[in-house]
Order: sequence, then C-alpha cells, then structure tokens
Amino acid sequence: MASTVSHHTGTRITDAASTERITADIERRLRAADRLVLPLEDTLELLHHLQQFELGRFLLHNRGLNGYWTSYIFRNRPKGPVTPLEHWLLNNSLLCQARERYHRFRELIAEHVTDGATLASVPCGVMDDLLEQDYRNVTGTRLVGVDLDTESLRYAEENAQRHGLAEHTSFRHEDAWNLGAEAEFDLVVSNGLNMYESDPARLTDLYRSFHRALRPGGRLLISFLTPPPPPPWEAPEHAAAWAKYRIGEDDLRRELSIMGDIVQATYLNFASESDVRSQLEAAGLTVQAVRYNAGGVLPIAIAVKQ
Ligand SMILES: C[S@@+](CC[C@H](N)C(=O)[O-])C[C@H]1O[C@@H](n2cnc3c(N)ncnc32)[C@H](O)[C@@H]1O
Repeated sequence: MASTVSHHTGTRITDAASTERITADIERRLRAADRLVLPLEDTLELLHHLQQFELGRFLLHNRGLNGYWTSYIFRNRPKGPVTPLEHWLLNNSLLCQARERYHRFRELIAEHVTDGATLASVPCGVMDDLLEQDYRNVTGTRLVGVDLDTESLRYAEENAQRHGLAEHTSFRHEDAWNLGAEAEFDLVVSNGLNMYESDPARLTDLYRSFHRALRPGGRLLISFLTPPPPPPWEAPEHAAAWAKYRIGEDDLRRELSIMGDIVQATYLNFASESDVRSQLEAAGLTVQAVRYNAGGVLPIAIAVKQ
C-alpha cells in the first residue's frame, strides 16, 4: 500500500516523549552542522520555540504538512492565542505566499463551477478549494475528494457537511499516482503534492494518473514551486529577485533556518516552468497557461486533456 508523501502522523501530536526525542536528534544534528543560516544559539532558540505550538510540533515530526495544517495556514484563523513564532509563521513567512496562491486557485476553479460538472480535488486535504466555491446557481455539480490520509478525508467530510454540500460530494481513499477514475472529471485541482516528489519520472507518472482521470476537454489546475534564487547575503546580485517573494532579509534568514536547517522540509522540490511543461506534455496533457502572482512567482499551471 502506498503511503502519504507529505506526513506520517495524525494532526494532533500528544506524545511529548517522542517530540523530545525528535528535538534532541535535531539539536545534535544542528550542533554538528558546518554551516547554519543563523548562529547556533539563535537556531536552537527557534527549535525550542517550535515545540511550543501544535503546528510547530507537527512540522518537527513530519517535515511537511497534512490537509488540516495546510487549511489552518491558508485560512489563518487560529481558534485561540498563538505564540510569537506561530504568529510569525502565519503572517510573515513564505507560507503567506502559498496562501495568496490558494486564493488565485479559488478564482480559477470558479470558472469551472458549471451545471453538471464533476470537479475533483487531488489530494483534497480538507478540501477547502472546492468546498468554498459558490454552487447556488448551478445544478448537478458533483465534487470528488481524493486523499490517501483517512483523517483528512474525515475532516473533509465534516467540511462538506458544514458547507451544506455533503449530498453532492464523495470521497475516495486512493493514492494520487493510482487513481481509479477514468475519463470522469471535468476538472482536477492539485495543490501541495508534486512538491514532495523529486523524481521527474514519478512526477510524469502522477500527471499520467491525472490525465487518465480527466474527461476529454477536462482541465488540470496544478501548483508547483520554481527554484528560488540564492540568498541575497550570498549573492547580492539576486536581492531584486527576492523582492518578488515579498520577504525581507531578516525574515528570509528565519525562514531558511526553520524550514531548511531545523525542519529540513521535504516539500522543497523545485521545478522550472519548462520542466513542468515537459512533464505534463509527456503525460499527454496540453499546457494552456502558467499563471504567476503579481511578483512573478508561485505559479499555477493550467493544462487540458485534448
Ligand atoms: C500539503 S497537503 C495539501 C492538501 C490540499 N490540496 C490543500 O491544498 O489544502 C498534502 C496532502 O497530500 C495528501 N497525500 C500525500 N501523499 C498522497 C498520495 N500519495 N496520494 C494521495 N494523497 C496524498 C496528504 O494526505 C495531504 O492531504
């Protein structure tokens, strides 16, 4: 059976002893590192602060995000008080850029909310992307959420109920690389999966699975991460390129310290537009456009099955 590429624990990590073990391992690795973005003492302080809130602990354990925490970041509506570091992650880190892209996704999806359409989210996580659309003026639209994590599917089901869309929504516990659907979907939306995979052949396989699942004429909307420039303190000539990410130098150092040195996030598999275009084309899809944000980063590719 395939396993999730993004995470391996449940949303809530209650086993304090395992967090302590993981933190001790990370601390040993940091102390032995030749080079860190921030001084060791500052890095260890960040490590300490990451243990103080649930999202931080999830990142330490998983080095990636599940559906629940992705939704938590994109919606940015924490239920209670947050620690200063969690506040920083939600409001100043590069995760905010991914949140902006989530809103662009929603605009693109809205064009596909039409009578009788079958819209799929793969992987769906808690499926905000499809469930937050307005279906009041359409009839016969079907929504399908696919994910390999049963906990996410449960949250997505509750989310569908909350939005009054349960009747129109179904869920499938499947590996995205091996979708059961054949020529079924008018739209597949895919955010936050391909960036966990580094092997170009595996990426093409994923896109083949999407291609198979789409009806002729159906569309794929898919995000990817383009390679960032080297940090401006290493290559000052790239400082302007960083301006596109709307992050100042101090925040960038903190970002690279947390997601790079400490967490070693596994989703940082970058792909150029031309790589993604050729993988999608190799999977049989025709790329219609690649849309970037106003700064020219955080793309979404739009591809069609002819
Ligand atoms: C970063 S979350 C993104 C969720 C959602 N697309 C969003 O934007 O909120 C990654 C999701 O991929 C799911 N996932 C990981 N590996 C998978 C696989 N092989 N097949 C299907 N889903 C998978 C995880 O369970 C998780 O829900």
